[in-house]
Amino acid sequence: MDSLEKIDEIMLNHIKSFKYEPVKLMYKEISSGKKLRSKLILKIAGDTQEAIELCAIVELIHAASLLHDDVIDGSDTRRGKPSINYSYGAKNAVMLGDVLYSKGYYELSKFDNFIAKTISDAVSKLSIGELMDVRLGESFNEDIKMYESMIYNKTAVLIEASAKCAAFLAGFDVDKFGIYGRNLGIAFQIVDDLLDITQDSKTLGKPALSDFKDGKTTLPYIYLYKALDKEGKSILKSYFKKELNDNEIFWINSKFEEYKIMEKCAKEVEVIADKALKSIEEYENKDLIKIMQNMIDRKF
Ligand code: FPP
Ligand code: MG
Repeated sequence: MDSLEKIDEIMLNHIKSFKYEPVKLMYKEISSGKKLRSKLILKIAGDTQEAIELCAIVELIHAASLLHDDVIDGSDTRRGKPSINYSYGAKNAVMLGDVLYSKGYYELSKFDNFIAKTISDAVSKLSIGELMDVRLGESFNEDIKMYESMIYNKTAVLIEASAKCAAFLAGFDVDKFGIYGRNLGIAFQIVDDLLDITQDSKTLGKPALSDFKDGKTTLPYIYLYKALDKEGKSILKSYFKKELNDNEIFWINSKFEEYKIMEKCAKEVEVIADKALKSIEEYENKDLIKIMQNMIDRKF
């Protein structure tokens, strides 16, 4: 059994420990994700039992956050499968999330105080990030700083905490690995936002260009807004949170092309990736370079 399978097994055993069939049943319908955070922990700390157990905790917390996020976003699908809120309703999805993350906390209490503090602080920030996301979604946002702060909290914080804790387990410099994790997380979210525009709905497992319709003014839209003239700005704003027809989608895509917005965002991702890799270069860890590269090159 490889380490990623061991993580799945530990998570399942945590769930089974409650001896309550409905929880097990619903849990089994969550499709397992890419385990980015676990891969990161294992590549930093090595495949030790302690690291594997930490991975299971982080994955439980991450899964809980997605269960809640799907309720908040009203998403019917997750990773191409029906979401738990779609199949069982919001009440069950919220409570299953509560079971997962409180079990994660219980297991976390067995770890060193540095790890328990770092992960639990990250989860508070994760929740703040989700709140920021919901608030930003109320109106068109042209403030890059607010977008950056939101994606740092919503996405990068748990990745940063994972990298720090793994470095702690390995006896490495936690701050340097924190910078790597933080920038990996930020780059991850920007790539995610780009894919929502560039990929077709079948690859994404959700409709393309759905972010803008869902009230998310992601980086490409902020850059586009800044590049457009007065008339263009007001057209773009009028498309915010709207079900777009083919002509409107064509307009947005042609403007993205005209102002080379995707290229601008891709360059931004490269700068962020460089920052991440510079901070840990003395460790000469090829796997961490590869994790960053794979994340940038991913198609969904
Ligand atoms: C996905 O964002 C959401 C997150 C990465 C974080 C959600 C965090 C919470 C709901 C806080 C609560 C935390 C716990 C542990 C219960 P998205 O909607 O932009 O991405 P998506 O396309 O994957 O849905
Ligand atoms: Mg969501």
